[in-house]
Amino acid sequence: MSAPNKSFDPVEVTTLSPEVLAGFVSEAISAISAANSLDELKEVRLAHTGDRSPLSLANREIGALPPAAKAEAGKRMGESRGAVNAALAARTQELETLRDAALLIEESVDVTTATGVRAQGGRHPLTTIQEQIADVFVALGYQLAEGPEIESEWLNFDALNIAPDHPARTMQDTFFIGSEDSGIVLRTHTSPVQIRSMLNRELPIYVICPGRVFRTDELDSTHSPVFHQVEGLVIDKGITMADLKGTLDHFAQSMFGEGIVTRLRPSYFPFTEPSAEVDLQCFVCRGTSVDNPDAPCRTCRSEGWIEWGGCGMVNPKVLVATGIDPEIYSGFAFGMGLERTLMFRHGITDMRDMVEGDVRFTRAFGLGV
Ligand code: DAH
Repeated sequence: MSAPNKSFDPVEVTTLSPEVLAGFVSEAISAISAANSLDELKEVRLAHTGDRSPLSLANREIGALPPAAKAEAGKRMGESRGAVNAALAARTQELETLRDAALLIEESVDVTTATGVRAQGGRHPLTTIQEQIADVFVALGYQLAEGPEIESEWLNFDALNIAPDHPARTMQDTFFIGSEDSGIVLRTHTSPVQIRSMLNRELPIYVICPGRVFRTDELDSTHSPVFHQVEGLVIDKGITMADLKGTLDHFAQSMFGEGIVTRLRPSYFPFTEPSAEVDLQCFVCRGTSVDNPDAPCRTCRSEGWIEWGGCGMVNPKVLVATGIDPEIYSGFAFGMGLERTLMFRHGITDMRDMVEGDVRFTRAFGLGV
């Protein structure tokens, strides 16, 4: 066996000598620990383990060594590379942990920060209640009717059997468009829509009409020159006051809760005969506060009933005025104020809150539909 060729001894191939390799390793390790980001570390990895790194270049020398020397050099090279790879893996993990922590901070959301997004308003309860009422009656087969807010005096008064000398027909109550004899007014109630419906629709008629009306009242806690009513009208064969009462009870329950009934009190309206005031059973105390000083009710002032609107059987004179034969057809009508309905349903004490358009008021009603 010949002695190993000295010139191929790895100790003498300078780049494979333990000192030089140790030098490569320590250079690599200090570069690795100096890398402050995963990008920097990538470059360090390339420089110290890539094809042109000192370690790789030294590794190539091993191939030319005699077999006996290869093992030792290979082992040393393996250890050197192992040390560099271990340092790379450890630093990679450290840097990934730092990156993730930074990302969490960067992407964190401060839910208490003011957003600059404008506060949302709310739908006005008058809009909502008009839709609710329409839904209740459409479910009964009624149609939604509409009429203009600027109305002819004939439809607003004469056709409804309101005589020319009726006190409501003066400038004290009615807004006239132009002069008092212009014949054109801002409608003072939704009742002219009854006439429009009778003139324009096929019989039988089942209509509901929520809408805006006008009277020359000063704005105060219980009055407004602009307010809302809902009008109901039915014309069919064989309609009686029992139909009216049943319909009003159903309406009351859908607005105020199950079991709430209405009461009719004899009254007078020129366009209905007989006529009645509609009272609503107090939906808070349901009548238990009457003659019961121990449990007074603020909603109905312990009366058990709340005035809600007017109603009656359509006056045959009105049927005739619109060309409907009262011998064949009969009908009922009713009308109530929506502000009033909302006021007692929600305990609103000042009419002005409903007029002023302050979002702090409407928002309290949310987005309810
Ligand atoms: N139009 C009446 C008013 O404004 C309310 C009213 C009463 C309407 C009786 C009706 C009714 O349809 O039958 O005071």
